[in-house]
Amino acid sequence: MVTATENTTARVLARCHTLAGFSEDREGTRRTFLSPPMRDCHNEIAKWLAPLGVNVGVDAAGNLRGLYPGATPDAPRLLIGSHLDTVPNAGAYDGILGVTLAVALLEALEGRRLPFAIEVLGLSEEEGVRFGVPFIGSRALVGRLDEELLNRRDANGITVRAAIEAFGLRPGEIPQAILPAEVLGYFEFHIEQGPALEDLGFPLGAVEAIAGQSRLEFTFTGRANHAGTTPMHLRYDSLAAAAEWIVAVEKYAGEVPGLAATVGVIDAKPGATNCIAGQTRASLDARHASDEVRHAAIDSLIRRAEEIAARRELTVGTRTLFDQRAVLMDPYLVEQVARAMREIGCEPHRMVSGAGHDAMILAQRVPAAMIFLRTPGGISHHPSETAQPGDISKAIECGLQLLKQLGESSDFRMRTQRA
Ligand code: GLV
Ligand code: MN
Ligand code: MN
Repeated sequence: MVTATENTTARVLARCHTLAGFSEDREGTRRTFLSPPMRDCHNEIAKWLAPLGVNVGVDAAGNLRGLYPGATPDAPRLLIGSHLDTVPNAGAYDGILGVTLAVALLEALEGRRLPFAIEVLGLSEEEGVRFGVPFIGSRALVGRLDEELLNRRDANGITVRAAIEAFGLRPGEIPQAILPAEVLGYFEFHIEQGPALEDLGFPLGAVEAIAGQSRLEFTFTGRANHAGTTPMHLRYDSLAAAAEWIVAVEKYAGEVPGLAATVGVIDAKPGATNCIAGQTRASLDARHASDEVRHAAIDSLIRRAEEIAARRELTVGTRTLFDQRAVLMDPYLVEQVARAMREIGCEPHRMVSGAGHDAMILAQRVPAAMIFLRTPGGISHHPSETAQPGDISKAIECGLQLLKQLGESSDFRMRTQRA
């Protein structure tokens, strides 16, 4: 049986906190797509990988990539990683833990070569914070970073393309980031970000599927007017309409089992205390394991917004920014993960992820699987997000066991030839 030393675990934790220090904000962690602290992050990880003989490169979509060679020069490759961007006021583990664990696994090999190479991925964008749409990094790897996405603008009017150029990368080279055919698979370690594993008392979980998600923008348009002189019955207040709809979203989601619907952003214009808001934009994030239920929810919530707007004599427009179907993980790899968990003495609890992950995008091109770590209190997207040292040790043991199993399996290596 493989074991993880306390030192290895402590190093993983310390590295997560080092990376959390690379932030756009003075207080707290915020690291969005190709912001300056992302370069510090890349340089730091490159320092960890250099002693292992792994040269780190950054592809044209800003993904950090480092290849640990296999036993032979033509060995196929296995990908292990997660994302390096964060939400505003983030914790230290979401995404980052998956990258630091990938590095720890390579270190634990102590120079041993496997029948496959291992590529560490530090993906550039998973959260969708800067441009409103998620997965820019992983979309590039599967050939889905298209013109429309490259032309999207952030709040300052900067396009994805311009952000790539400003970081010193070449958008014209994005096709070269696409994964080659001889990739055996992708493993992503990630905190669960929910309460299920903690409730069950399991340190690790084997993800079988990732819930689909939609992101939309609703724009309520009424009429701006003076807050002091406009009688209450003569108002066309877009923010009040949005507020009514937001409460309706919460109520609707509470009545549909398994549905998560969130309005996380509102922007009211002109945005002054003494002005009635003439136009209000509100985001909608909706998730469900069933695409049918999710789409029915979106239709219903659009109708609800239209009813509210009509009753208040306003208009409402909607724009879909992102629609990603639910994705199954690769059954063979999930079975391997479950076996590795059993070998290290963990119950192989199988589960569906409510959060979105790069694995759901990479699964479009390569077999993908995820291993979840218990998340104390189910708290994530918050500075108090944590992971327990004992669970990190288990994750390292599970990863090493997985590499051992896969290295010994001729079935696994044959998979690229079948693909
Ligand atoms: C990523 O954290 C997501 O699920 O939105
Ligand atoms: Mn996240
Ligand atoms: Mn994440």
